[in-house]
Amino acid sequence: MNIILLGPPGAGKGTQSARLVEQYGMHQLSTGDMLRAAVKAKTPVGLEAKAVMERGELVSDEIVSALIDAELGAMAPATGAIFDGYPRTEPQARALDAILERHGRKLDHVIELEVDEDALVDRITGRFTCANCGAGYHDRYHLPKVDGVCDRCGGTEFKRRPDDNEETVRMRMQEYRAKTAPILPVYDARGIVSRVDGMASIEDVTKALDAIVS
Ligand code: AP5
Repeated sequence: MNIILLGPPGAGKGTQSARLVEQYGMHQLSTGDMLRAAVKAKTPVGLEAKAVMERGELVSDEIVSALIDAELGAMAPATGAIFDGYPRTEPQARALDAILERHGRKLDHVIELEVDEDALVDRITGRFTCANCGAGYHDRYHLPKVDGVCDRCGGTEFKRRPDDNEETVRMRMQEYRAKTAPILPVYDARGIVSRVDGMASIEDVTKALDAIVS
């Protein structure tokens, strides 16, 4: 199965992708994570992407589509793919069609997480992750069970993203409205879009996704 999770910054795409990976053994392809890894490793892609990401703007279509193509090509054909944060523009949506065809895959579901943008600023500015394994947490909605200790790996170091400040988040939302939301009608016309209330609890969103993919 191949699915796209769509929604503005903070809608819960990463949170729910991690749950789908755990539940169904699918593979998460997050262009945001790939770009952050490239920035950390100071690769040519990372050097080009760093300032763009810090401004909350979109990295070039060619770069992100090449990252997706390479990662999909490295996956076992039977493993399902979750596209998290990709595609984000009309050219990316067209590129994904070609990439999927080249790898003998087809798109089964596009799931839009519907959310209230003002609440998202609160979600994003409260977000932090385990520096060791990347497990995601939130200052108010999802704290580790033991204070200061990661539930998943026992790590004790946590970090926050440099683009998780209010000004950059507002820019990321503007980019979503202007460039990403317009790709939904294309998938609507194919009859593969499901809409889920992303303002429900994390557990309830997971249940709604289960009902779509199982
Ligand atoms: P990316 O990393 O993709 O960021 P994003 O789309 O802005 O999404 P986020 O990761 O911020 O949010 P999310 O929906 O995953 O929410 P999460 O689950 O973490 O992209 C970053 C940058 O990279 C972009 O700005 C761009 O520059 C570049 N980029 C990436 N892809 C690109 C592309 N294709 N083209 C061009 N440029 C690209 O949840 C957020 C918080 O809320 C967490 O703390 C979580 O615990 C909490 N939470 C989640 N669900 C709920 C819930 N239901 N109730 C309460 N709290 C919840």
